[in-house]
Amino acid sequence: MKTIFSMLSLASLLVATTCSAHAQQLKVDPTSLVAPVSPTLYGLMTEEINYSYDAGLYAEMLRNRTFTAPGKGFSLNYWRPVMHGNSLVKLGQGDHGPSAALPKSADVTVTSASPQDLAGLGNEGYWGMGVRPSTVYQGSFYATSDAFDAAQVRLVDDQTGTILAASSVNLAKGDWKPYRFTLKTGGDMKATSAAHFEMLFDHPGQISLQLISLFPPTYHNRPNGNRPDLMEMMAAMHPQFLRFPGGNYVEGNTVEERFNWKETIGPLVGRPTHRSPWGYQSTDGMGLLEFLYWCEDLHMEPVLAVYAGYSLRGEHVTGAALDPHIQDALDEIEFVAGDTKTKWGHLRELLGHPAPFTLHYIEIGNEDFFDKSGSYEERFSRFASAIRAKYPQYKLIATTPVKQSKPDLIDDHYYQSPEEFFNLVHKYDKMDRNGPKIFVGEWATRTGSPTPNFGAALGDAAWMTSLERNSDLILMSCYAPLFTNVNPGGMQWSTDLLGYDALRAYASPAYYAQVLFSNHLGDHTVKTTAANLGSRFFWSATVSKTTKVLHLKLVNASDTVQPLHLDLSGIKDGQVKMYTLHGESRWATNTIEQPDAIHPVETTLPASKLSEHNVAGNTIEVLDIPLI
Ligand code: AHR
Repeated sequence: MKTIFSMLSLASLLVATTCSAHAQQLKVDPTSLVAPVSPTLYGLMTEEINYSYDAGLYAEMLRNRTFTAPGKGFSLNYWRPVMHGNSLVKLGQGDHGPSAALPKSADVTVTSASPQDLAGLGNEGYWGMGVRPSTVYQGSFYATSDAFDAAQVRLVDDQTGTILAASSVNLAKGDWKPYRFTLKTGGDMKATSAAHFEMLFDHPGQISLQLISLFPPTYHNRPNGNRPDLMEMMAAMHPQFLRFPGGNYVEGNTVEERFNWKETIGPLVGRPTHRSPWGYQSTDGMGLLEFLYWCEDLHMEPVLAVYAGYSLRGEHVTGAALDPHIQDALDEIEFVAGDTKTKWGHLRELLGHPAPFTLHYIEIGNEDFFDKSGSYEERFSRFASAIRAKYPQYKLIATTPVKQSKPDLIDDHYYQSPEEFFNLVHKYDKMDRNGPKIFVGEWATRTGSPTPNFGAALGDAAWMTSLERNSDLILMSCYAPLFTNVNPGGMQWSTDLLGYDALRAYASPAYYAQVLFSNHLGDHTVKTTAANLGSRFFWSATVSKTTKVLHLKLVNASDTVQPLHLDLSGIKDGQVKMYTLHGESRWATNTIEQPDAIHPVETTLPASKLSEHNVAGNTIEVLDIPLI
């Protein structure tokens, strides 16, 4: 009797133990499809902020190549007189230039120089210059002089004065002419960012210079192109679109300082440059066509933001004064996507790209909820009518809700703490599916500087589970800002996805979270049921119907383990691929000095082991589980 009693107690203890292990449960039914996942869910947002293009993606090495002060004035900032031996030189302002866009120049007056004691000018670059061994650099400039037959150009190591590369450029006497040169480094140097550029002359005389430029090898070898390291990091995210050119950058501080796309196309000598709202001058080397090449190179679609008559300091344009801005937007769309028989499509052809770019989405303005005059109702509706009349095929994005005209999408922005994002993850679950679709055009968890720490990656990952669950409604989303130069003074907005200096670049934990989410996105969400999971535990379950894979994303934003009974139906008895991103604490992060402290780790495990699965604290997991 006693034995039977003991056996029963043991049995009930076993049942109890099993039940308590099963109490923390996530049940996923991959056969029960809930909603389609938007294939364009993950993309990129970009603008000139934090030295994103100049001193960032746009590979130009010389700073202030057009001798321009912020605004329209003249400046020799970042240029220095260079006097070897006992030579003498003076730099000053020249009141003439090679184009109407660049009407000024640097006047270089050499009063004493010889072939042994050269004199001229030097440029310090954007916090130095990334110079690598066995590399060819492409240089160019405009000059006018009656004094010199040649200029000596060099890259020089700041610390040692060693000449890393040198060349001579023959000059013709007379009016403004363009020149090109190459500089090739030897194989025996170490890569450095402590380097500068010199242009020198070997006898007294006067020369005027403008648009002095130097490029390293670029991604896909595009002239006037982008840094390969940053392009490769973005390519690994497999972004579906690029929202450009802002953000605040499309608006400018004033109407005058808006992103005036017509002044950003064609030869660089025709681009006057302009002041960005983030306090520094933009070279506009990254102009409208360069944005489109960036899209083409990374197989993304443009999400084109057009200037819509509102600038950050409150200037707003209404009535007849809005007409030229509406026309500019129509012309811009024609430049991007019109055929070559159109005026602006033909110009695009002349600039080297006859084929129209793919375009589906146009955003009208940026964050127009800041326009307290209420003029966005009129502005949106007039832009929308004009665009729809000519291009009914495009989807129009409003930057805040409007009543007079129905946008196809509304752009919602979120800059939050991890806890705020944890509390927001159900915001869209119950939202009306009959209204405009949603574009989450800027979002980021803002902890960590200059780049997000692991706590931010957890906030982001939690938020992405909600983007995925609601991606029948949320068609597109993009993190912001994407870039920062990590040098002192390089950053205007803290917590940026990727950091870099002139030579190196690194990815934040938040970047890796995005790579994991966007590279493992299914085509449908599936039914999940959860019981007794921690309040900081989040998940997303999608399936790829074609590849027959369940993508299960688990986010444990608590710092203690989350035991999980995973009840998965319809899965194959095979190997599961698991990608784990883990931080020892929320403060853990990557830096330019320690770029790989946190990175995803790939493992495999048998599907049979999943039923009891522990997710460590401060951990993001993506599991690719084969389906029957
Ligand atoms: O992403 C930084 C800024 O935040 C953007 O320029 C603006 O749209 C938002 O306020």
